[in-house]
Amino acid sequence: VNALPGRVIAVLGCKGSPGVTFVAAGLACRLAAAGVDVLAVDADAEDRSLAVHLDVTRADPEGLARSASLGLLTGDLIRHLAAAVAPRLWLVEVRDGDGVDGRAIVTAARDGGFAAVVCDLGHQVGPLQRQVLACTDWLLWPVIPDRVGLERADRALASRAAGSSSCGLVLNRMGRTALKGADHALAERHQLPVMARFRDDASAAGRISAARPAHRTRPFRRPFDELARAVHPRVAPAVRGTWP
Ligand SMILES: Nc1ncnc2c1ncn2[C@@H]1O[C@H](COP(=O)(O)OP(=O)(O)OP(=O)(O)O)[C@@H](O)[C@H]1O
Ligand SMILES: [Mg+2]
Repeated sequence: VNALPGRVIAVLGCKGSPGVTFVAAGLACRLAAAGVDVLAVDADAEDRSLAVHLDVTRADPEGLARSASLGLLTGDLIRHLAAAVAPRLWLVEVRDGDGVDGRAIVTAARDGGFAAVVCDLGHQVGPLQRQVLACTDWLLWPVIPDRVGLERADRALASRAAGSSSCGLVLNRMGRTALKGADHALAERHQLPVMARFRDDASAAGRISAARPAHRTRPFRRPFDELARAVHPRVAPAVRGTWP
């Protein structure tokens, strides 16, 4: 996997807005800030809000769909069609039923020199999301560790088709309603590592903007750091890291 020119990281959740877009947007920004060329892909079947989280107004899904259905999707073209978000960060939106194959997007992104592809898959897995999952290196699964969030995650993880990608949990919105120890139990039961933990901080979440992206907003800085280091080999390891 390390030898591949691009890393593909997908974020998938279950119902109830566990923070799929929050995690995808923050991670994409963090990787770009580390000097990695990132293509963020919004492939949420229901609610495309990655552009909102990234403060972009222009994305051209029609252009992408047209080129893809004509079999013309190349690395150069995807670079041209993607909306520029920030230095080293671009965004495309893809819809189910557009005739765009998720694998073609990933291949074109790699050909286009993107060293990371970060996909917001939302919570509904259809053909497009399955195609992306088929070529994903890391699958991140945000979970809110309260009673409802854990139950939903437990069910979704139990029925998850075993894929070839590495999979990890991201505990999000950890606050007073978090069930103590239940996150460990969930991780153990499904044999998944916990990749990062984010506090529930509505005021910090409300302060996220283009000028101050999530990975630079105080309480979220460290977990986005850890997440970026864990999923991408080009992000320098922590200097004073401990092992294991
Ligand atoms: N750690 C956090 N602390 C406080 N608020 C958060 C946190 N993470 C996410 N939020 C907020 O929760 C809301 C839902 O997050 P987000 O849009 O990322 O969820 P989602 O899983 O993508 O949901 P959807 O199903 O709508 O796509 C947003 O308003 C976001 O700002
Ligand atoms: Mg979302």
